[in-house]
Amino acid sequence: MKGLILSGGFGTRLRPLTFTGAKQLIPVANKPIIFYGIEALAGAGIKELGIVVGNTAEEVRQAVGDGSRWNISIQYLRQEAPLGLAHAIKISKGFLGNDSFVMYLGDNILRDGINDFVKNFDAHHPQSLILLTEVTNPQEFGVAVVDACGMVRKLIEKPKEPPSNLALVGVYIFDQHIHTAIDNIKPSWRNELEITDAIQWLLDNNYKVESHMVKGWWKDTGKPDDIIEANLLVLEGISSAQNGHVEDSTLNGRVRTGNGSAIIKSVVRGPVVIGENTRIVHSYIGPFSSIGDNAVIENSEIECSVIMEGATLRNVEKRIDRSIIGKNAVINVIDQSPRTHKFILGDQSYIEIAK
Ligand code: TTP
Repeated sequence: MKGLILSGGFGTRLRPLTFTGAKQLIPVANKPIIFYGIEALAGAGIKELGIVVGNTAEEVRQAVGDGSRWNISIQYLRQEAPLGLAHAIKISKGFLGNDSFVMYLGDNILRDGINDFVKNFDAHHPQSLILLTEVTNPQEFGVAVVDACGMVRKLIEKPKEPPSNLALVGVYIFDQHIHTAIDNIKPSWRNELEITDAIQWLLDNNYKVESHMVKGWWKDTGKPDDIIEANLLVLEGISSAQNGHVEDSTLNGRVRTGNGSAIIKSVVRGPVVIGENTRIVHSYIGPFSSIGDNAVIENSEIECSVIMEGATLRNVEKRIDRSIIGKNAVINVIDQSPRTHKFILGDQSYIEIAK
């Protein structure tokens, strides 16, 4: 079985972060999101992986490499524009051949990986096995109607009146029949070749589509709050590891510190990860925070946030909560008169100040 990770797209809902970088490379617990997917596929025994890339092809390739660090081989497949999930399969046909494959959306994280899912497919070999989870807001997802045996009967995209609460998770397994299905569907109203239409074509032509329920949590990191939530969920599972220097500080709970980092006169309450060569001085780092490499945090308070590499926060005494701070961003509170705010913000930046 092969693997196909989708890492194209525009990531418009994550602007401004995606103006300067791929959404799949945004760090969650200091690790690029796409690495979670690669590890899930490699963990399930997949050795040949294709990554579909778009405008951010070069930086994805640079960050991920040839797969040797996971002991797998990786090929990059260029999609000229994000014309849909089924379109991503269509352009990957040369790589996929007639093999079965797992398609994994590069912005998804699954706590328990996909080993059981792949085993289930190998045991029954339907034409497609789709991964489902129960949600409270099925209106916002592709929703499946499933019979008592777990056979899928129907798929509906973002239904106004959902027939079930079973949402499609961004992981699927297909055999070679999916290529025929994709050749037989037309682009949707948003001009995308939709994977739900291709799966519905399989159902309409009496092919077997089965379902598999997610165990553990699943997170699609499409929006800023999802990144914060995914960071929280991953940090819940970390263990402590101290590689940095700690001086006159209190560390509670599970805290990981990277080589060359220094925590001085500070309080760190885990779960927290701190990268390499990062300085935390006279500050409070509260639960569910990830601080990247080469960051500087001085006289500041942070909680439940993602602070990326090279960021600097100085004298931010009002606590920074549920925030995402991009690479090399600076927040500096200075003591001067008149007491003004000065902002140099990229397009579509977002600032919220509590009075
Ligand atoms: P989406 O989240 O649906 O799209 P997007 O990443 O462009 O984000 P937004 O809606 O905020 O603009 O895509 C899910 C995943 O699939 C994501 O990792 C990008 C990838 N993708 C492709 O590689 N090719 C495509 O044609 C599409 C639609 C998505």
